[in-house]
Amino acid sequence: MSTAPATVEGPETVIDVHHLTKSFGGRKVVDDVSMSVKKGRIHGFLGPNGSGKTTTIRMLCGLLTPDSGDGTCLGFDILTQSDRIRRRVGYMTQKFSLYQDLSIRENLEFVARVYGLPDARGKAKAAIERLGLKGREKQLAGDLSGGWKQRLALGACILPEPALLLLDEPTAGVDPQARRDFWNEIHALATDGLSVLVSTHYMDEAERCHEIAYIAYGKLLVQGTVDEVIEGTGLVTWTVSGPDVHHLQTELSKQPGIDMIAPFGLSLHVAGHDETALEQAIAPYRDRSGFKWEKGEATLEDAFIDLMGRSQDNFR
Ligand SMILES: Nc1ncnc2c1ncn2[C@@H]1O[C@H](COP(=O)(O)OP(=O)(O)O)[C@@H](O)[C@H]1O
Ligand SMILES: [Mg+2]
Repeated sequence: MSTAPATVEGPETVIDVHHLTKSFGGRKVVDDVSMSVKKGRIHGFLGPNGSGKTTTIRMLCGLLTPDSGDGTCLGFDILTQSDRIRRRVGYMTQKFSLYQDLSIRENLEFVARVYGLPDARGKAKAAIERLGLKGREKQLAGDLSGGWKQRLALGACILPEPALLLLDEPTAGVDPQARRDFWNEIHALATDGLSVLVSTHYMDEAERCHEIAYIAYGKLLVQGTVDEVIEGTGLVTWTVSGPDVHHLQTELSKQPGIDMIAPFGLSLHVAGHDETALEQAIAPYRDRSGFKWEKGEATLEDAFIDLMGRSQDNFR
């Protein structure tokens, strides 16, 4: 009768898509993207604006048909079973999509009714408690701060008890404390077995993901754990601090052997792929008075700056 997978638990791989490609107006905005997300994992989706994250997310849940490529989401075919997928996926879009002139409670009850959930009132009440919105039930959604709005949107997403959350830049423009709270909640949900694909621009958020994927110009450049991604770039990094690192940066950036150089507060990260060439490049500067050089591990941000630099070269 049903074409659904027989397992009660659901598949261990909740997103498994291959070679997704999509063009708009003759321009490829997603190019041969394959992605895999495991059950109960938080998978971060990173990349600059316009790199194809939202388009990919929409293809994953069957909202948008790829030009080519295929795969499954929660075990359902993304090309033919989008109805089944949508019923089990909570999708939080980039724009706040609840009613600004309804209160928190009214919004949640409305969502519960749209999904035809039994006991809409009780469900809304439970969501309010879970997300720490108690005492604010009567506030209008439109009057909430960015952080509370996102909390409410998350509450609406999890009401129908989805198996997978697709969160599209859920914390863009939200203050750091609210972002931390939001992430604590995402981790709590993942611990309860929910799988999460979340796009973000924030490096600290990327570091809180079990795995990350990085996309630029429609192409998936890397995928793996934070450590795997850093290791994969093969960067050797030195940190230098001193009185005028800005000046030093200008000088160093002309040296061959240095592939990436970026300021971090009062210090510079100087990195290269060839350890010997890098050390030769910095040697003349090592004795300069006032500067302190330290060899360190590349950070995720170093890895992304490097990846971006290389992908731009590829597209020039
Ligand atoms: N419906 C559409 N029609 C035409 N172009 C689109 C459409 N949706 C997205 N694009 C373009 O595709 C590219 C990728 O967009 P998007 O997936 O939204 O990237 P991201 O979410 O990473 O910022 C952008 O250049 C965007 O302008
Ligand atoms: Mg987007």
